[in-house]
Amino acid sequence: MSQSLTIALSKGRILDDTLPLLKEAGIEPLEDLEKSRKLIFSTSDPDVRLLIVRATDVPTYVEHGAADLGVAGKDVLMEYGSQGLYEPLDLKIAICKLMTAGPVNTPEPSGRLKVATKFVNVARRYYAEQGRQVDVIKLYGSMELAPLVGLADKIIDVVDTGNTLRANGLEPQEMIADISSRLIVNKASMKMKHARIKALIDLLAAAVERHA
Ligand code: ADP
Ligand code: PRP
Ligand code: MG
Repeated sequence: MSQSLTIALSKGRILDDTLPLLKEAGIEPLEDLEKSRKLIFSTSDPDVRLLIVRATDVPTYVEHGAADLGVAGKDVLMEYGSQGLYEPLDLKIAICKLMTAGPVNTPEPSGRLKVATKFVNVARRYYAEQGRQVDVIKLYGSMELAPLVGLADKIIDVVDTGNTLRANGLEPQEMIADISSRLIVNKASMKMKHARIKALIDLLAAAVERHA
């Protein structure tokens, strides 16, 4: 079997923060990914190519073997369910927290709580552990809007500076998890291309330490 590698990344902060690490591991795209409309990119290593996919689709490409490796936020992995994937390395990039948030100085409703989020599996699990009855409302973005217009009492979203919450009259409340992005690996690829992947993980781990 060929030892070529396909790596799935998403545009934005994951790409911005992963490219310097890949560069230190000897992998540089041959063109500017942010400027191109292409979705498959060759790199300075003729055996390595990069795919650009939506952040939430990275685990899907890797679990099904369409990519050998990928970089995904822990929030995305918690929501996707990562038992079908290996997660060998914390890249310590795109650091934030997954939290509940709600309107400032507003008491909780006594009945069922309405929670809007794109992380519906995480939300159900979190409130089930608390023994709290909730209605979870699936959104795809702009979660902060939901409590302002009566769609939900609270949201679950990632928080970094808290600026987005503050700008919308919301406050961070309960901490669910510390988040950073992880290298993920297809289980069959890890077996079939073990030497190649192990070498890349070691190079990336050294790069992560240098950036720490
Ligand atoms: P999306 O288009 O899905 O929002 P992003 O590039 O914004 O993709 O987010 C990718 C990952 O980066 C998320 O899964 C999360 O782990 C992390 N992240 C999201 N927002 C922030 C933020 N404001 N600061 C730091 N990390 C973040
Ligand atoms: C993310 C997230 C929050 C915000 C949190 O949005 O969905 O809205 O960052 O960061 P803060 O606490 O520093 O304000 P992002 O910037 O990724 O925009 P998006 O809606 O395009 O995902
Ligand atoms: Mg985002």
